[in-house]
Amino acid sequence: MSSDPGISRPTAVFGSFPRVRMRRLRRDDWTRRLVAENRLTADDLIWPCFVVDGEQERQEVASMPGVERLSIDLLVEAAGEAKDLGIPAVALFPSVDPALKHPDGREATNPENLVCRAVRAIKEAHPDLGIVCDVALDPFNSDGHDGICRNNYVVNDETVAVLVKQAIVQAQAGCDVIAPSDMMDGRIGAIRDGLDAAGFEDVRICSYAAKYASAFYGPFRDAVGSGGALKGDKKTYQMDPANSAEALREVALDLQEGADMIMVKPGMPYLDIIRRVKETFAVPTLAYQVSGEYAMLKAAVHNGWLNNDAAVLESLLAFRRAGADAILTYTAKEAARLMRDG
Ligand code: PBG
Repeated sequence: MSSDPGISRPTAVFGSFPRVRMRRLRRDDWTRRLVAENRLTADDLIWPCFVVDGEQERQEVASMPGVERLSIDLLVEAAGEAKDLGIPAVALFPSVDPALKHPDGREATNPENLVCRAVRAIKEAHPDLGIVCDVALDPFNSDGHDGICRNNYVVNDETVAVLVKQAIVQAQAGCDVIAPSDMMDGRIGAIRDGLDAAGFEDVRICSYAAKYASAFYGPFRDAVGSGGALKGDKKTYQMDPANSAEALREVALDLQEGADMIMVKPGMPYLDIIRRVKETFAVPTLAYQVSGEYAMLKAAVHNGWLNNDAAVLESLLAFRRAGADAILTYTAKEAARLMRDG
């Protein structure tokens, strides 16, 4: 038997036990708010959206519940809602009529193509809303690849020449941010020179510098209609998911070539890459919460396995914590609404 009170009351022996209580600052909402290290606001979001030809046309994307392809008239309205929610920019992706697709992706450089018409219409209605356009041939290419194929291989330099033209027609239409997502070598420098020579020195470049050959793009390929056509995979140009130091080399090159912003893609499975890029280069770093991440989240919500609102906001805050300055996410509008309504 022991009369030592320390056995049942350690505080008597060790003084205050434990002296450090991490939970003190978690106890009340006001201290939690005071010490929060990272925040998410609508300012951090870019809304990626899909555009299709037609009028009053609205098509659901089966593998992305809640995401629709919209005709330009409806997209102009939807972009206005995003703007009113405080979202700084939208990213446009076209779902192109298969009849316009060609092995050389020539429709990509047509100044009257779907993307260019959408850019002009959105800019006219909402001059203060930023517009980001993808540069890559896959929505326009009959074999679904981001560049031109010769003998089943996407050729680099010939593709880059077409991408420069694609970037210029998009800039002429009023696009603010050119976002090459093709992963060809040297395309950032070539596009920068092309834009500058055409008088678009203020058009920004956001390079998908660390873009992985990922299984998480499947639903996007449904949305733009490039998936069925895709011959093979994109492993000869997109990065190997096994690699991380290689991402730093890709980013270093794109910054040297004139990229203003860097994108890491996919997002949640690649938070370590976001962190390394941000710590190494301290440049504006964006993350793309891609279609497959969105599909997973919504599928779990649909089954009643996750709480939608909490999971959406937590997934986005995690990008901020990892070091992302902004996030492209299909949840942009719902997240902005959730934050507005508290
Ligand atoms: C194509 C492109 C892709 C995405 C954005 N631009 C798909 C791909 O590389 O096959 C994917 C986005 C998403 O999955 O949400 N250049």
